[in-house]
Amino acid sequence: MKNRYGLNKAEHYILNNGVELPAIAFGTYKAADGKSADVIRTAIEAGYRYFDTASFYGTETYLAQAVRESGISRDEIFIASKLWKTEMGYENVKDAFERTLENLNTDYLDLYLIHWPLPEPGYKDWKQLDRETWKAMEELYQTGKVRAIGLSNFLPHHIENILKDCTVRPAVNQIEYHPGYSQEAVVQYCKERDIIVQAWSPIGRQRVLEEPLVLETAEKYGVTPAQICLKFAVQREIIPLPKSSSIKRMKENLDLYSFEMEQEDIWRLATMPQAGWSGEHPDRERVRI
Ligand SMILES: NC(=O)c1ccc[n+]([C@@H]2O[C@H](COP(=O)([O-])OP(=O)(O)OC[C@H]3O[C@@H](n4cnc5c(N)ncnc54)[C@H](OP(=O)(O)O)[C@@H]3O)[C@@H](O)[C@H]2O)c1
Repeated sequence: MKNRYGLNKAEHYILNNGVELPAIAFGTYKAADGKSADVIRTAIEAGYRYFDTASFYGTETYLAQAVRESGISRDEIFIASKLWKTEMGYENVKDAFERTLENLNTDYLDLYLIHWPLPEPGYKDWKQLDRETWKAMEELYQTGKVRAIGLSNFLPHHIENILKDCTVRPAVNQIEYHPGYSQEAVVQYCKERDIIVQAWSPIGRQRVLEEPLVLETAEKYGVTPAQICLKFAVQREIIPLPKSSSIKRMKENLDLYSFEMEQEDIWRLATMPQAGWSGEHPDRERVRI
């Protein structure tokens, strides 16, 4: 049986509060560089029904335009956005959320995330700031204007700080995840606590596509290296958020259910030497690599 996003059982998950969401999303960072909604409109045509944006990306208004022009009803598209570093703090969250709703031309969000746990590396009072930010997120959730709330780039010590003091548990945590940088400690911590993991840069912004193990595994299954990266997320029930500007690649990135990797290959991909890391870490200055 298909759900409201036109997906069957294998192609969606249920969050810890009962909300359904598609198993693959379209990432919109840099998806409107030409200052147009064309790429996102094409992604809707290609079949994506879950869109990941953020106030920081500048793509909320283009996503709104693409959704409006698609003619697809709002409740058949899952929209997630994020609260930026400068918008943290109890007093700021509600205004930031209203701006996001306005940009997205909608009266509710499906998912709202805190983008990073620290507003800047070395920020001393992050525990207090994260808790009060989360409290405001919980209040938004209680109003019904957002169907689920969650985190992004939170490591176990950051999540623990939220869990100690929350009334609504985070539903997801969005982290950098791809072969060569899969943050196993975070994945395990979240899975044990019923927090769905989402993979940003799931194909490592192309930096891992030439890795020998990725190439070899792609050849073994007769698929592309990008499909191996994405399946490395999907097969572990991690939601990848690939971004592409070509319809051919958009479709390729959704075509992940015609093959299944052996467990041995997943372990190899999870333990291959570090490759393709962005250099971003929530507690540190960006590492230039
Ligand atoms: N929470 C966070 O802090 C955070 C941080 C970064 C990203 N994100 C989210 O994650 C999304 C995806 O991350 P990302 O954009 O950094 O990286 P990505 O999706 O891993 O990589 C995008 C790049 O890969 C190329 N590509 C896409 N499909 C391909 C394919 N099948 N074969 C070969 N190349 C392909 C794209 O090129 P073309 O466009 O030319 O196809 C683009 O250059 C973002 O859009 C954003 O929504 C979140």
